[in-house]
Amino acid sequence: MTGRLEGRVAVVTGGARGIGRAIAEGFAREGARVCVADLDGGECDQVAAAIGRGAFGQALDVTRMESIRDLVAAAEGRAGGIDILVNNAAVFDMAPIVEITEESYDRVFAVNVKGLLFTLQAVARSMIARGRGGKIINMASQAGRRGEALVAVYCASKAAVISITQSAGLGLIRHGINVNGISPGVVDTPMWDEVDALFARYEGLPPGEKKRRVGEAVPLGRMGRPEDHVGCAVFLASGESDYVVAQTYNVDGGNWMS
Ligand SMILES: NC(=O)c1ccc[n+]([C@@H]2O[C@H](COP(=O)([O-])OP(=O)(O)OC[C@H]3O[C@@H](n4cnc5c(N)ncnc54)[C@H](O)[C@@H]3O)[C@@H](O)[C@H]2O)c1
Repeated sequence: MTGRLEGRVAVVTGGARGIGRAIAEGFAREGARVCVADLDGGECDQVAAAIGRGAFGQALDVTRMESIRDLVAAAEGRAGGIDILVNNAAVFDMAPIVEITEESYDRVFAVNVKGLLFTLQAVARSMIARGRGGKIINMASQAGRRGEALVAVYCASKAAVISITQSAGLGLIRHGINVNGISPGVVDTPMWDEVDALFARYEGLPPGEKKRRVGEAVPLGRMGRPEDHVGCAVFLASGESDYVVAQTYNVDGGNWMS
C-alpha cells in the first residue's frame, strides 16, 4: 500500500540519521512532505535532498525554546502547517548509580524529556490553531518499561516519555490530535554504537560484544533495523489509527510484552 500520507506535512526530529531518517524516508514514500529537523542544518538539507518529494531540512535543537519556535514557523511558512510530528530526537548516557553526574542527568533530561514535551506543545498549539487535528508520535524505548542498573537516567527519561504520551494523548484528543508512542528495543544505529562503547567500558567487554549479545537475546533473533519501525510509524501517522489514543507500541522483536 502506498499514498497513505498523501498531502500531509510531517516533521521528524532527529531525522538526519538512524530511526528518524528511516521514518522520514518511509513517510515520503507514502506521499508526505517531510521536514527533516536535526542539530546540523546542513546535514538536514542533504538528507532532505536525498529524500526528495518536497522534503526540506531545518536546524533544530530541542533543548532551546526559540529553536522549537523556529521549527514550527518554518514548517508553517514553507508547507502551510504540520499534520504529523515524530518526536524522535534523543541522547543516551549510562553510568553506575554512584557515578551519575549532574551534567549527564541535565543533558539527557533536557533532550529526551523537556525537548520532547515542548516540541509536542509547540506543534500541538500550531495544530489546534489550524483546526485540522494531527498525529504526534513519541519515540520511547524498552528502557522506559523497566530499570537497568547502569542506565538509570536514560531509563527514567524514557519512562517519562511513556507517561507524557499518556497525558498528552488524553489532553489533546478533544482537538483531534492523536498522541501515541513507539517503544523500540535494541536497534543497530549510531546510538547503539555509543551504547556498545559504554558497555565495553563499564562491563569490560570487547567492542561489539554487547551488541552481539543483545541481538542474540531478541526473541526474533536479531537487533532491530531503523526500517523495522516504519510500518508502525506510518500506521500511527495515518487515518488508520484515528481510534488509537495515548498508547505506546512495542516494536522490538518480542523483547517486551505489555
Ligand atoms: N537505537 C536503539 O537501540 C533505540 C532503542 C530504543 C529507543 N530508541 C530511541 O529511538 C530514537 C532514535 O534513536 P536512534 O538510535 O536513531 O538515535 P541516533 O543517535 O542514531 O539519532 C538521534 C538523532 O537525534 C539528534 N539529536 C540529538 N540531540 C538533539 C537535539 N538537542 N535537538 C535535535 N536533534 C537532536 C541527533 O543529532 C541524531 O541525528 C531515540 O528517541 C532513541 O532514544 C533507540
